[in-house]
Amino acid sequence: MTRKAVLLSARMATMSEGGTPYGLCRDAAIAVNGAKIVWVGERQDLPPEYVDWPVEDFGERLITPALIDAHTHVVFGGNRATEFEMRLNGASYEDIARAGGGILSTVNATRSASAEMLLSDALTRVDALIAEGVSTLEVKSGYGLDTETELKMLRVARRIGESRPIRVKSSFLGAHAVPPEYAECPDDYIREVCIPTLRATHAEGLVDAVDGFCEGIAFNPAQIALVFDVAQELDLSVKLHAEQLSNLGGAQLAASYGALSADHIEYLDANGVSAMAKAGTTAVLLPGAFYTLRETQVPPVDLLRQHQVPMALATDCNPGSSPLTSLLLTMNMGCTLFRLTPEEALAGVTRNAARALGINDAGTLAPGHRADLAIWNVTHPAELAYRVGFNPLHKRLFGGIE
Ligand code: NIG
Ligand code: FE
Repeated sequence: MTRKAVLLSARMATMSEGGTPYGLCRDAAIAVNGAKIVWVGERQDLPPEYVDWPVEDFGERLITPALIDAHTHVVFGGNRATEFEMRLNGASYEDIARAGGGILSTVNATRSASAEMLLSDALTRVDALIAEGVSTLEVKSGYGLDTETELKMLRVARRIGESRPIRVKSSFLGAHAVPPEYAECPDDYIREVCIPTLRATHAEGLVDAVDGFCEGIAFNPAQIALVFDVAQELDLSVKLHAEQLSNLGGAQLAASYGALSADHIEYLDANGVSAMAKAGTTAVLLPGAFYTLRETQVPPVDLLRQHQVPMALATDCNPGSSPLTSLLLTMNMGCTLFRLTPEEALAGVTRNAARALGINDAGTLAPGHRADLAIWNVTHPAELAYRVGFNPLHKRLFGGIE
C-alpha cells in the first residue's frame, strides 16, 4: 500500500547546500509518497495536488534527514575492555597491536563466534544507532582475515539490513591487519588470502566497496594498491583508513583510485588534501578513535575547508579504538575535539556521509530522495551537536515508515 502524507513542522533543516544555513526552513511541509519525498518547502507554497493528502503535524519540532553512519565495524566477536585497562597502565595502541593483541585479539574472537552470535551482538549496537535516528549504516569486514570468516562477517552485515529497518552498505576490509599465520609474509597474505577472498565475497554479492588499513602496524601503500587494483577490475569503489597514526601517503594513494573517502586522516598533509580535493574524495573524521586513543594530532580541518573537501563524521564503532555507538556524541566530539561547527557536524552525518558512501538518494531532504527522516524534540539544529549524552529523537521514518 502506498502511503501518502504531508508532514508539517515549525522547522526543517534540509541540509541542502547553497541556501540558508542548515537549509533551514520555517513552517515547513514535506510531501511523502510511499518511500520517497515528492515535495519539500514552506507550507504556504504547498502545490494544490498535495493539499488533500493526510497531514501529520509535528508542531514545534525540527525535521532533518535521518542520520548516516559512514564508517563502522559493528560486526565483531568479544570486546577489548582488558586492552582499555592496559592502555590506562601505559601501553599504547601500537604496543598492544605489535604484541599480538589489538585487532588480532578481535580476529580470534570473531573467528570462533557463530554467525548468530555475531548478528545478535551487532544488532544491540545497531539498535542504539537507530534509536538516535540513524537510517543508513556502513559495516566493514576485517576481523576474519580468512575467507571463511570474512564471508561470515559480510553475510551477517547483509542480515542486519534484513533484520532491522536500516540500509546497510558493506565494505570488504581484508587488508585490515596481518593475521598471525602470515606474520612473516604479509605480501603472501595479500596475494593468497586477501585478494581471493575479495573475489569470493564479491561473487556472492556481499561487497559494496573495498577498504584497507594503510599504517605501520597494518599494510603499506604498495600492498594496498594490489587490493585496490582488483577492486578496480571488479568495478568496486575504494576507501581507506589512512594517516591515522602516521603519514604513509595513504590518502593520496586512495585519491589516485578515485576513492569515495579517506578516513581518520589525523596526519594528512597538504599534498594529501589537494589530492583528495581533485579526486572528489570525502574526508571521514572519526573523533571517537581520536578520543579513545587520546591522540593529540587533530585532522587538518582548516586545510580541508580551504580545499572544499567534504567532511563526514562517523562513529568508527569497533571494540578497540572506538567503542562508541552514538552518532550524536560523535557530532559533539567533532565540534569539541576537531572544532567543526555544529552545521558541519550535522552535514557530516547527513549530506557528506551520503557522499562518503556513494549514495545519492539520501542525506538531504529533497524531492526524489528517500523519506528517511529524523524528527527531533529540539528547536534549533545546533542543539543536536551541543548536548552530551542526551537523545532528543522524537521519531525516525525509514522510507516513509516508522
Ligand atoms: O578504524 N584503524 C584501524 N581499524 C579500526 C580499529 C580496529 C580495532 O582496533 O579493532 C579503526 O580505528
Ligand atoms: Fe575503522
